[in-house]
Amino acid sequence: MSSIIEDLIARKIFNNRGEETIEVDVITTSGFGRASAPSGQSRGKAEVVYYPQGGVDQALKKIEDLIAPELAGLNADFQEEIDSTLHEIDGTTNFKNIGGNTAFAISLANAEAAANSHGLLLFQFLGGNNANTLPYPLGNCISGGLHARGKAPDIQEYLALPHGAETFLEAATANAQIHRKIGDALKKKSALFSGGKSDEGAWIANIGNIDAFEVISKACEEVGNELDFECGFGVDVAASSLWKEKEEKYIYQNEEKKRDAEEQLEFLLDLIETYHLAYVEDPFHEEDFESFAKLTKKANNCLICGDDLFTTNNERLSHGIKLGAANAIIIKVNQIGTLTDASETIETAQRYGYMPVMSHRSGDTCDWHIAQLAVTFKCPIIKTGIVEGAHIAKINELVRIEHFLGNRAKMADLKIF
Ligand code: PGA
Ligand code: ZN
Repeated sequence: MSSIIEDLIARKIFNNRGEETIEVDVITTSGFGRASAPSGQSRGKAEVVYYPQGGVDQALKKIEDLIAPELAGLNADFQEEIDSTLHEIDGTTNFKNIGGNTAFAISLANAEAAANSHGLLLFQFLGGNNANTLPYPLGNCISGGLHARGKAPDIQEYLALPHGAETFLEAATANAQIHRKIGDALKKKSALFSGGKSDEGAWIANIGNIDAFEVISKACEEVGNELDFECGFGVDVAASSLWKEKEEKYIYQNEEKKRDAEEQLEFLLDLIETYHLAYVEDPFHEEDFESFAKLTKKANNCLICGDDLFTTNNERLSHGIKLGAANAIIIKVNQIGTLTDASETIETAQRYGYMPVMSHRSGDTCDWHIAQLAVTFKCPIIKTGIVEGAHIAKINELVRIEHFLGNRAKMADLKIF
C-alpha cells in the first residue's frame, strides 16, 4: 500500500448558511480523502485569514496552479511535511496568501487519504490502538449574541453537558431530550415563540439572560432525573462581541446593563455558584488574559475555556498558561490552518493540564472529521450542535465510532466534576 499523492481536486461547495466554502479531494496511489472547511460567525481576531483576496475562486486557482503540483509525489503519511509545505507555499504567518481554510481542507483531506490508503479510519491511523476514548458532547441549546437575530439573550450559547452519561449514545440522547424540553418550555413561556433556530440549531427566543439559565437548568435537571445520570450545563459568553473598547465595558443590550471587567467577574462568579455551571467559555474579551486568570483562580469545579482568547494558537496558549488564564481550550483546526499546528497546540494544552475541547464552527458542512479528531487526540469534550444537519453529522460519526469500538469504547474522564 502506498500513500503517494497523485492529485488534488478542489471545488466550491456551500455551508449550512449557504456561504461558499472549499472542498478538497486528495488522491493517492491507493487511497482517497475528502474534507471541507467550516466558517465562524464570531471569529477571534488572531485567527488565520480564511481565503486569499478573491475568496474561494482564488483559493481554487492557487490549488490548481501552485499547490497541487507541489504536493504531487509527496507521501501523504508524512502529515508534518505536507503541512510545512503548505506554510512554505503561503510564506506568511497567517495564511494570507493561500487562505487558512484552503490549508485546512488540504491538511484534513491529506490525513484522511493517508488513513484510507492504509485501510484505516482516521482516528485509528492517527491515534493508534489507544484511541478508544469518546468525548462528552457539549451541545448548544439556546442561542444569543452574534448567533441570533432580533431579541435574544446577550450570552451567545447555553450549552448542555451530560457528564454523568456512561456512553456517548446516552449522552447524545440526553442532549436531544434537553433540547426538546427547552423548546417546549420556551413555547409555554411565550405564545409568540416561533420555534426559530440559529445556524447551530439552538433555539432563538425573546428571553432574558437569567431566564435562559432557569430554562436550561430545569431541563437538565428533569432529563438527568429521567435518565438517571447527571446533566450539567454551561455557557459561551463570547465576551469579545459584548466588549466596547471605548467605554471599557461589556454591553448587555437585552438586560440594558453595562459591566466593567470587575463587575463582569462578579457577575460570572455569581452565575457559576448559583447554577453550578460546569463550563464557561470566553468570559472576557480576547485580550484580557488577566481577568481570565482571576476567574480561573476563583471558580470551583468549573471549566474556564478560551476560544477567541487562544484561537488554537500555541503561542497564545503558552502565554495564557504562564498567567493561569484558563483550564480548558477550544480547538478549532481552521482557526490555525493545519492539523500539525492544531496538534501542537493540543499537546501543549495536555502537558499543562488544560482540557482540549474539539469544536465545530457555527457555519459548517457535513464534514465529520472533528469527531474523528476528538477521539484521535483524546479530547474529553466535543462542542457541536445537537440537532442541525451539519452538526449532527459530527454526533452521528461519534455514534458510529462508539459502535465500531464495541466493548473497547470508554467515555473520557472528566476529572473536574
Ligand atoms: P463561530 O463561534 O461562530 O466563530 O463558529 C462559535 C463560538 O464562539 O464558539
Ligand atoms: Zn466560542
